[in-house]
Amino acid sequence: MKQFDAEILENRELAEDYYQMFLSWPEDVRVPFPGQVVSLNVDRGITPYLRRPFALASFQRESRIASIIYHVRGPATERMALKKPGDVIDTLGPRGFYFQLGLERNPLMVGGGIGTGPMVFAANWLAAKGFTPRLVLGYRSESLVPKLDLSPLVRQTVCTDDGTFGFHGTTVDFLNSLTSEDRVDAFVWACGPNAMLKAVHFWAQPLGIPCKVSLEEVMACGVGACVGCTVATTDERKMVRVCTEGPVFSSEVIAWT
Ligand code: FES
Repeated sequence: MKQFDAEILENRELAEDYYQMFLSWPEDVRVPFPGQVVSLNVDRGITPYLRRPFALASFQRESRIASIIYHVRGPATERMALKKPGDVIDTLGPRGFYFQLGLERNPLMVGGGIGTGPMVFAANWLAAKGFTPRLVLGYRSESLVPKLDLSPLVRQTVCTDDGTFGFHGTTVDFLNSLTSEDRVDAFVWACGPNAMLKAVHFWAQPLGIPCKVSLEEVMACGVGACVGCTVATTDERKMVRVCTEGPVFSSEVIAWT
């Protein structure tokens, strides 16, 4: 993990209040993996805002360009949306445990809301390794559906709660519509609202499908000091801090409430 000034190369609006910010990634900063996070100090020294964690949405090795997808939902992200190419942003990362492959070969990537970014990163990363991942993304309605850069190997399904775009229903409704053939050798990686992650876990568990989730807890310090991001677990640890022991966990480790 390193602190550096990243140059903003592009700040692209993807959908209503959703943006993708492309950042230069210095040569001496470790290559990031899907699930990892950067913490941004949006206006260093000018405003009282704390560092904000954002999951990475892409990384291009040749050009060393990374990106995040963020939702404008408060003063800090409102200021981020005003940033222009050439501005710099104080960046700390990459950090956190990332999604790691097991033995299964049939990827099901499930995302919703700001969980879109890490799932797009994961799907494109798997496609570059020769997988044909299924990417299932859920939104409330069509106005929130982002335009994404995806590998042709990624099989994308967009679900909307109100049926205004793509599959009518939630991501878990779509998972329930998969056939047993679709589920052969499957594994799930998911990121999004807790209610969605819980539903994905309880879909995968009885089918014996390994499931990893990236949690989106609110983080204050981002470095393990404030204990503001703890979640309960089913193992001997009882509690973990998402910022230091996550954000990616096997879903059976989380005590879903
Ligand atoms: S955000 Fe402070 S301990 Fe995790």
